[in-house]
Amino acid sequence: MKEQLERIKAQAMAALEQAADTSELEALRVKILGKKGELTAVLKTMGKLSAEERPVMGQMANSVRASIEACLDQRRQELAALALQAKLEAEAVDVTIPGEQVSLGHRHPMNIALEETKEIFIGMGFQILEGPEVELAEYNFTKLNTEEGHPARDWSDTFYLKEDSSVLLRTQTSPMQIRAMEAIQHPPIRILAPGRVFRKDEVDATHSPMFHQIEGLVIDKGITMADLKGTLETLVKSLYGEDSVVRFRPHHFPFTEPSCELDVQCFKCHGAGCPTCKGEGWIELLGAGMVHPKVLEVCGIDPEVYSGFAFGIGLERMAMRRFQISDLRLIFENDIRFLRQF
Ligand code: DAH
Repeated sequence: MKEQLERIKAQAMAALEQAADTSELEALRVKILGKKGELTAVLKTMGKLSAEERPVMGQMANSVRASIEACLDQRRQELAALALQAKLEAEAVDVTIPGEQVSLGHRHPMNIALEETKEIFIGMGFQILEGPEVELAEYNFTKLNTEEGHPARDWSDTFYLKEDSSVLLRTQTSPMQIRAMEAIQHPPIRILAPGRVFRKDEVDATHSPMFHQIEGLVIDKGITMADLKGTLETLVKSLYGEDSVVRFRPHHFPFTEPSCELDVQCFKCHGAGCPTCKGEGWIELLGAGMVHPKVLEVCGIDPEVYSGFAFGIGLERMAMRRFQISDLRLIFENDIRFLRQF
């Protein structure tokens, strides 16, 4: 029995040294010390020993068990330390490696121009409104004094969404005048309505089937053409500098009377004529006018009591002037190399 115990101890120690991980270690523990283990099997035969031998062998068996348990513990700690070290190595972070550069975007020139314009008008007490891009012909045309048969309503210019021409993609932001008057009802009304508009135009350096306008409307008692001129001059001077020169030119729009267009003197040639202004000396910026009495009436506002002015700015055109962009397509192509310049 003594030899048996010594053999078990020697074999156990050797096997434990070899164990590569904790599960192997556990399997060994069961194999040696478990209920059906080798040591246990030897102990079960103790009964057959003589009375003198039994305490001696018992003591020896206990010491073998203690040695094996101590060895098990030690190996368990070694393996845990090894595992921790491996894990730390695997998870090691080199804090000296330079971080990945996140490239920061910035505002699109159109947004810059829009924000600037909004700020100017908010400063003058205007309220910003938004409205539908899919619009009723009634709002886009009829209520704006543009009757059936008017050339502006032609199918060749407008994206109609219904056979009966009752629904369309708005061709201008002017229907927002009607929506504002119907919604607010009681002047004073001072609104600015930026948004997308759509026309059946081929894409070229100055045209796009989708572009942006900013509509403005002011209604109150005693509003005159002088208010229109003062407001729009303020806009141009804020955008293009105090020394900008503007001129108002007579024009026709169905929903304003009188109507005009505002030109700004070319900032390149100061009126002499150059390629930027196509030799004109002046650059057209927006359409405007005094709100037609019929339009006020349609919206339930008494034209005998109230008057007002309206204007429509082409936002692309304004951004192109502001940043000296020569081709409209650049604005929509989102080429990073182009956009980075602003
Ligand atoms: N809606 C016009 C257009 O698209 C621009 C315009 C002209 C708007 C005169 C106005 C205005 O509010 O009074 O050409």
